[in-house]
Amino acid sequence: MQQKIIQKLLRSRDNVPEALWLLLMKGAWRTYWLIEQIKQSLRLGRKTAPLFGSERALFAEKFCSYFPIGNVLEIGAAYGQSFHLLAKLLPQTQFLGIDINPETVQAANVVIKENKITNAKIIQGDATDIQGLPDRSFDIVYSSAALLYVDDNEISQVIKEMIRISRKSIILLELHLENPEYPNQHLGIKLAKYSFLGTYWVRDYKKLILQHAPRATISLTKIPRSMWINEAWAELGYIIEVNMVID
Ligand SMILES: C[S@@+](CC[C@H](N)C(=O)[O-])C[C@H]1O[C@@H](n2cnc3c(N)ncnc32)[C@H](O)[C@@H]1O
Repeated sequence: MQQKIIQKLLRSRDNVPEALWLLLMKGAWRTYWLIEQIKQSLRLGRKTAPLFGSERALFAEKFCSYFPIGNVLEIGAAYGQSFHLLAKLLPQTQFLGIDINPETVQAANVVIKENKITNAKIIQGDATDIQGLPDRSFDIVYSSAALLYVDDNEISQVIKEMIRISRKSIILLELHLENPEYPNQHLGIKLAKYSFLGTYWVRDYKKLILQHAPRATISLTKIPRSMWINEAWAELGYIIEVNMVID
């Protein structure tokens, strides 16, 4: 029911004054996350953390603002955690995920089926080997906590391919840091400071993307510290939205 209200509001964006639309949307999202949290708690038989104001909710709200969306590719989709929100919210959109780990892919598709999500699937694939996908074949190409595993000598090629494949936008939820002192041309650094969390790649994604798409419009949203329990993300977690200019 609440899902339908959000879809209706997304469809009506052009017909309602902007300020009123934003107000209605804000209320609709707040109610949606509250209901989803209650459903989660009932399913698990315990109190769960609020979804409203979480990084996933922020990502989902930003993602849905691109409505209508025909199809989407997620790089490093793991168990399809984001599909469980996004594919349900946007049932007309086709979601494809790739993940390098075959066991994860198998488990992901079982859970997707069990949850009766019919517009999403995950296949095994490597972000560094997506040259086979046609140009401009997905409206949105996104990653959430996946590019941080891609090595320094491969990231430039991955970004270039994501740009080539996307028709409208790229959205990243990754660790971002503007640092003029990066030691290499790929603008990245492995963050030993947080090695107790694993070693993640931190990059200046804005510069990296502009190297390959100089006319793209890029907006950065720092994810508020309060949304994280993990220090690396609290300091460096960003949503990076890239709107492509197609000639
Ligand atoms: C932290 S999980 C991200 C999960 C999910 N995207 C989310 O939003 O919760 C990172 C995933 O990226 C995958 N991954 C790492 N390197 C990859 C690569 N080169 N190509 C595709 N997937 C990769 C891992 O197998 C893992 O499932």
